[in-house]
Amino acid sequence: MIQETLITTVNLQGEVHIAPMGVHVNKDQCIILPFRPSTTLDNMLKTKTAVINYCDDVRIFAGCLTGRRDWPLLPTRQIEGYYLADTLAHAELKVVRLEDDDTRPKLFCQAVYEANHSPFQGFNRAQYSVLEAAILISRLDRLPWEKVQAELDYLRVGLDKTAGEREREAWGWLMEAIEQHRQGVAA
Ligand SMILES: Cc1cc2nc3c(=O)[nH]c(=O)nc-3n(C[C@H](O)[C@H](O)[C@H](O)COP(=O)(O)O)c2cc1C
Repeated sequence: MIQETLITTVNLQGEVHIAPMGVHVNKDQCIILPFRPSTTLDNMLKTKTAVINYCDDVRIFAGCLTGRRDWPLLPTRQIEGYYLADTLAHAELKVVRLEDDDTRPKLFCQAVYEANHSPFQGFNRAQYSVLEAAILISRLDRLPWEKVQAELDYLRVGLDKTAGEREREAWGWLMEAIEQHRQGVAA
């Protein structure tokens, strides 16, 4: 199964980087697959560590893709690093194996510490809409505009019916980014 998460990593200077990533989760191992080039990949190769944040605040997903990367953090317990203060749960990882690839290397990881911070609140369609729209935005250069527009029209239905303030704010940031991209293409 692939879980949509936020990965926090640090570089050798201890500076933190946050990025949304789909993590392939098996029983006691997980795989992170960053497309090159990637700061997450660079940091993981240098420190051999990362943190998975299981987080339902979709503003952080949308924020990372629209230049808003400054989110409250707390220090990790068993590795050098940070987890998101607003995450529901987090897992601290060590990289145990690298399967290298020119496009998308696979980083096999093992959890060395896991913690729950808040209960899961149930599924929400607007959160799904924001995640899907964020993925579309990360691929704007590769997708035809008609496909993006059709998918956004569909995603807006769930958003309009079920969003709270966090989801509406995140959606607004994403639509702003799409508008800027469209203006850039037209210019
Ligand atoms: C829900 C979601 C899942 C994503 N999953 C991945 C992934 O598995 N691998 C990847 O390289 N980028 C993924 N992306 C896009 C990255 O978050 C984005 O391109 C980011 O800038 C990665 O590069 P970085 O490590 O330099 O920050 C995902 C984006 C979203 C919104």
